[in-house]
Amino acid sequence: MLVLLLLLCLLCFQPLPHVKAQPSSNSQQLDALLQQCAYRALVNPKTGITYNATQQLPSNLNGIRTSALRLRSGSLRRKGYQMYNEFSIPKGLIQTPYVERIVFVYQNLGNWSTRYYPLPNYTYLAPVLGLIAYNGSNLTATNLQVLHVNASSDPILVMFHDVKSPPHGTVAKCVWFDLNGSFNFSNVIKGNTCYASQQGHFSIVFKSNAPLTPKGEGKKSKSNKVWIVIVGSVVGGLALVVVLSFLVLWMRKFKQKKKMEQMENAADVGEPLHMTSVGDTKAPAATVTRTQPILEPEHAS
Ligand SMILES: *[C@@H]1O[C@H](CO)[C@@H](O)[C@H](O)[C@H]1NC(C)=O
Ligand SMILES: *[C@@H]1O[C@H](CO)[C@@H](O)[C@H](O)[C@H]1NC(C)=O
Ligand SMILES: *[C@@H]1O[C@H](CO)[C@@H](O)[C@H](O)[C@H]1NC(C)=O
Ligand SMILES: *[C@@H]1O[C@H](CO)[C@@H](O)[C@H](O)[C@H]1NC(C)=O
Ligand SMILES: *[C@@H]1O[C@H](CO)[C@@H](O)[C@H](O)[C@H]1NC(C)=O
Ligand SMILES: *[C@@H]1O[C@H](CO)[C@@H](O)[C@H](O)[C@H]1NC(C)=O
Ligand SMILES: *[C@@H]1O[C@H](CO)[C@@H](O)[C@H](O)[C@H]1NC(C)=O
Ligand SMILES: *[C@@H]1O[C@H](CO)[C@@H](O)[C@H](O)[C@H]1NC(C)=O
Repeated sequence: MLVLLLLLCLLCFQPLPHVKAQPSSNSQQLDALLQQCAYRALVNPKTGITYNATQQLPSNLNGIRTSALRLRSGSLRRKGYQMYNEFSIPKGLIQTPYVERIVFVYQNLGNWSTRYYPLPNYTYLAPVLGLIAYNGSNLTATNLQVLHVNASSDPILVMFHDVKSPPHGTVAKCVWFDLNGSFNFSNVIKGNTCYASQQGHFSIVFKSNAPLTPKGEGKKSKSNKVWIVIVGSVVGGLALVVVLSFLVLWMRKFKQKKKMEQMENAADVGEPLHMTSVGDTKAPAATVTRTQPILEPEHAS
């Protein structure tokens, strides 16, 4: 009985499925921090060489990798940059505002990907990678603004290493987060490559939300799910009330039975009482000389 009650309570107080917010300012703070760390690795840097800045990261961000690459804008526009870790930067990149030297900060968020870029209903098949352009003219300057870059002719390529395969029946998708945290999906090219026209954060995902309804019924809207939960709670609550009522009734009957037994025992000793039925229970219908036993009124709750 108790177990049943506990189960019902659990059913009633199950929280509504909550919807996670989009990537927040948290990820923008991380961008700023990683920019500072990556710039620290650029000590008398050579143009066009990748400088890893993993040692410059605070230890509480263990698992994240970052690097910096400084380029002359002119040569970047004419030639692009073939392979900057997983990124291939095409020629014809338009940057606003114009700067003479540009630094691309690379991020590999590794096992921190879901922490900084939670994507409800999707599962990551690769780490989140970031590419962000900054003014590279003064490497000790602080509070650097992000430059806008736009691939005008060819796209930026993101070629992921070690992409996990999506489960059977699902399709891998590229996801792109812009610097404000909005995201959009596109097709995966050749199994591991995403095309991008702008900077930001990239990964490969598959849709993994578990439907509440059996398969075949297909997509259920969110409002349907909410209704299922609400109806479930109401039904559960009613069941709980019914069970509680039965419990109370049963306890009362049990008490009365005890009382009756005591009375009957008493009656056995003295003058026998005539029993009549009152409702479901037997009650002593005494002779006029005896005081009438008062039955407690039966309230349902
Ligand atoms: C720098 O980091 C990249 C990826 O994060 C890695 O592939 C490369 O081997 C590293 N280079 C050095 C010199 O550590
Ligand atoms: C990622 O892994 C590193 C160890 O490789 C660990 O120190 C860190 O706490 C992990 N981060 C998260 C968010 O789990
Ligand atoms: C880039 O940095 C240099 C050196 O600090 C500065 O003179 C220039 O105005 C900056 N450019 C932009 C577009 O912020
Ligand atoms: C670079 O920035 C630092 C810090 O803001 C400043 O002290 C320095 O004068 C700047 N150098 C140039 C060449 O603008
Ligand atoms: C990027 O360039 C394309 C083509 O030149 C243009 O249509 C688009 O508006 C640009 N996007 C941004 C954000 O500048
Ligand atoms: C982000 O938002 C700001 C203001 O809301 C806007 O000016 C900027 O263009 C947006 N950036 C991107 C990459 O969408
Ligand atoms: C998302 O991508 C699709 C296809 O590339 C495009 O039609 C749509 O406008 C994009 N949405 C946003 C919000 O950028
Ligand atoms: C998750 O998927 C469900 C069902 O497809 C949908 O109703 C819900 O809006 C999705 N959540 C988010 C945050 O996209």
